[in-house]
Amino acid sequence: MESNTKVWIKKRNRWFSGIIVSKNEDQVLIKFDHNKKTEIIDNFSNIKLKNQNCDNVNDLMNLQHLNEPSMLNALFNRYKKNTIYTYTGPILIAINPFKNLEIYDDGNIKNFNNNQIENPHLYGVVSKVYENIKKNKGNQSVLISGNSGSGKTFSTRYIMKYLSKVSSNFDTNENTVERKLLESNPILEAFGNAKTLMNDNSSRFGKYIKIFFDDDSKITGANIETYLLEKIRLINQKDGERNFHIFYLILLGMSNSDKQKYSITKVDDYRILSNSKCYLRDDGISDKSQYEELIQSFHIMNFTEVDIENIFLIISAILHLGNIVIKDNQVIDSFSLKCASKMLSIEYADLKRCFLQKEITVHGETFIKPLKDIESYNVITTMMKVIYENMFNWIVKKINKNFIKTDYNQFIGLLDIFGFEVFHKNNFEQICINYANESLQQQFNKYILKNEQKLYEEEQIEWDFIDFPDNKECLDLFEFKTHGLLSKFDEECLFPNGNDNALYDKICKYSESRDSLNITNMERIDKLFTIEHYPGKVTYNIHGFVAKNKDILNNCAVKCLFKSNNKIFKTFDKNLLLSLTTLSSISISKQFQNQLKDLLGTINKTTPHYIRCLKPNDKNKPDSFQNNQIVNQLKYSGVLEAIKISRHGYPIRMAHEDFNDKYYMLFDKVDFDNKQLISILKNEKLEIDTGKYQVGITKIFLKKDDYEKIELMRNNLLNKSAITIQKIFKGWRIKNWYISYKKSVIVAQKYARAYLARQKVKRMRQNLASIKIQSLFRGYMIRKNYKRAIKLIIFIQRRVRQKIKKRKYRDNYENYCATKIKSIWKMYIIRKHFIQYRNRVIVIQCHIKILLAKNLLIKLRNEKYNLDKLKNQNDLLQNNLNSLQEDYLKQQALMNQMRMKMKQQERESFQKEQNSQLLNEQNSEKIEDVLYKNFELSNIINDYKQNEEESNQLLEDATIQNNQDAETKLLLAMKINELLLKHNNAVEELRRLRANDNNVSLFTFIRQFFQ
Ligand SMILES: Nc1ncnc2c1ncn2[C@@H]1O[C@H](COP(=O)(O)OP(=O)(O)OP(=O)(O)O)[C@@H](O)[C@H]1O
Ligand SMILES: [Mg+2]
Repeated sequence: MESNTKVWIKKRNRWFSGIIVSKNEDQVLIKFDHNKKTEIIDNFSNIKLKNQNCDNVNDLMNLQHLNEPSMLNALFNRYKKNTIYTYTGPILIAINPFKNLEIYDDGNIKNFNNNQIENPHLYGVVSKVYENIKKNKGNQSVLISGNSGSGKTFSTRYIMKYLSKVSSNFDTNENTVERKLLESNPILEAFGNAKTLMNDNSSRFGKYIKIFFDDDSKITGANIETYLLEKIRLINQKDGERNFHIFYLILLGMSNSDKQKYSITKVDDYRILSNSKCYLRDDGISDKSQYEELIQSFHIMNFTEVDIENIFLIISAILHLGNIVIKDNQVIDSFSLKCASKMLSIEYADLKRCFLQKEITVHGETFIKPLKDIESYNVITTMMKVIYENMFNWIVKKINKNFIKTDYNQFIGLLDIFGFEVFHKNNFEQICINYANESLQQQFNKYILKNEQKLYEEEQIEWDFIDFPDNKECLDLFEFKTHGLLSKFDEECLFPNGNDNALYDKICKYSESRDSLNITNMERIDKLFTIEHYPGKVTYNIHGFVAKNKDILNNCAVKCLFKSNNKIFKTFDKNLLLSLTTLSSISISKQFQNQLKDLLGTINKTTPHYIRCLKPNDKNKPDSFQNNQIVNQLKYSGVLEAIKISRHGYPIRMAHEDFNDKYYMLFDKVDFDNKQLISILKNEKLEIDTGKYQVGITKIFLKKDDYEKIELMRNNLLNKSAITIQKIFKGWRIKNWYISYKKSVIVAQKYARAYLARQKVKRMRQNLASIKIQSLFRGYMIRKNYKRAIKLIIFIQRRVRQKIKKRKYRDNYENYCATKIKSIWKMYIIRKHFIQYRNRVIVIQCHIKILLAKNLLIKLRNEKYNLDKLKNQNDLLQNNLNSLQEDYLKQQALMNQMRMKMKQQERESFQKEQNSQLLNEQNSEKIEDVLYKNFELSNIINDYKQNEEESNQLLEDATIQNNQDAETKLLLAMKINELLLKHNNAVEELRRLRANDNNVSLFTFIRQFFQ
């Protein structure tokens, strides 16, 4: 097994396919197909080679690697497609589909009969068999075996149908042998079949049906031989199983009037039917319809009404016998006994006596001895079994009478026999059945060997003795004269006190000298023994072996049966019945061995054809394939053994064409020339020992080693070539891929970049737009807020200014009012003072004037004298006054200038105040004060002006009076001078204060000035 070899791997009893990744001496690294996981396997026996193509092989022998998983896989693949038949060399494997496949119709029969179909099929085998008959190739037999429920009886029935149809040219009317042959089945199945856990219509007997053909290959007759009827079923059935069908057929199918005739009622009234609590079949077939079919078949098979009545009487009698209860040597249920005696046509008293007593003859004297209850029960059950078995044999004979023909040419034997059985508990029946299968297997092995040898001869290859696997050892274990197991079973029955324990001791002793018989210490405790059969080991339980191997009836019972008026009883073999009363009678195992010997003798004289029926699942369900079930059955049916044999000599055989097709790459030139192949195979390059292979006419025969060597070389070559091809292909593929990928990438990049650029531009636009919107919005918001703030500020400013203005105005107004009041008050005071002063002055003046007038008069009188002089003086004064007036005007101009400057300063200070209003609020008060002072000053100035005007007025008045009073003028002039001086001082002081900007001092000064 090299790397990259496809294999099957067994894990947890299941086969998985995989491939060998790597291998060393102890371990193999496998990669499983189903989950792609790798695993190290160290048990090489769990790895089997997998075939390249095993989906549809008609013959499993064509599989290169014929191992368990490959076979299973091939069978499963076919089963899935409803192809239930597959060849394995000479064996036809039939897998029960448990569904109607419609492949058995007349059309198919015709096609197979005309050799138009080569696919594996039941009809294919029969057509070959019938062809041999037609070609006069001698007797043929078809051996059908398999597990219970695998389809043996079904296949037998369809083979019979095929043969009937082709032999009668599809004209099977009621009276032809062919029709009768088919009609025998319902009768045999009614009496020999029963519902079991495995099969609702299980054949509880083996049968070999010989179908005779005349020179024209027409069916002329038939003969049915039966084997090992399961009589014990009459007494006991497993839970869920039934007794033989016939009991249910009559109880469920018969009319009530007929039932009365046989004193029978309903199914659950009979102990032998109600024990297992199962009354109905599960396969949907009704017992009533089967009853009608049975009656019809009886008529076709020439059973008279009396025959049928006798049969039913016996069946009813068995039902009644099964109901008899005996306690303390008394019959408890006399009704059942009476019915039984009536049905059996035996006197009630005779029947009762034979169940309760036995006759013992000692020295010619006969004694009557009462039976123990258990012995009575044994007599009843044995009588039931004997009656049923004999009746069954009678029915078979009666059927056979329909076909008896002595002048036949050839026959086809159909063997429908139980397959190898392994149950949880294996009893006497299983050992007989398995022994029969061992015998048939040996016959089969010999046949395969013969075939192999025939093949070698046909292929003209040199061959010596080939060592084939054999089951002789196991058969000897059974058949060895005097010591064999069958002899021991027989021998034990001959002893009066023979029992299972004594037999077991003998078997234990025997096991010491036999390899295929093993008994472990544990098995000894449970009275078990294990036999190594060809498919594997089977453990048997000794319990009931002796009793089952021999039915012992007492004299009375046998005499009773002789006395019966039933016609069927008259046909019972008297000697055989009598032999049941003696110990020397032939045992069942012996009978079976003899029958088997005859059967094998017959089969050996025929050309055998093998059909192995397989049951794909336990549940009898369609489309369910259980690998384990199939593997076991392949093993038990001997298919694996057959393969072993055919592959033992030269296990690998290949047609030249196939060899060439497969291995041509190893050689420079190969054709189908035998010599050349030989020379090629001798080629040193192949390193094959010439003795280990054979080149036949059409085939090459190889031993496994050689085959593996060639296979290895081929695999290596293929691997190398595959790697080269893969390398080139992968390179090419990668290059192509790269180019197209690059192109695609560029296109993708182009689109991606364009897309990204578009996205970027879009994003930028969006950003710009959003910034714009933001800026506009923010602008709008800020503007809005600004406008609102401005509005608010303006509003506040307005309000504040309004307030300030109002306050200022109010203050101004207050100041004004105060000033006004003050000025009025001051004026009033001044005026008052002035008026007082004036009045005083006037008074004084009056006084003075009087005085003066007096003086003046004097003076005038003097002046009159000095008038000129005075006149001059007056002129001088006039000039002085003019100069004074000029000075006054100058002073007034200066004052105007000062006023202008003051106004200018006022404006500037107001401007300054406005400019520094916000920054220099603290100074605003001062400025306001200054302004106020200015204002006061201006008021003062105004006052002064007023004063001046008044002075002017006064001056004018004085001037007027000047003429009148020179003194007054002088005084006035003095006063004016004084005032002017004061005024000048005030102006000087004002200037100085202004220059110093000393508001406080200015203010103080002004206040002082006016005080
Ligand atoms: N080829 C088939 N096509 C359809 N159904 C089949 C086929 N073979 C068998 N069967 C079904 O399987 C059932 C059991 O088959 P059959 O009675 O032939 O088994 P058997 O091998 O004779 O069993 P036993 O050993 O218990 O007698 C049949 O009743 C039938 O329904
Ligand atoms: Mg059957």
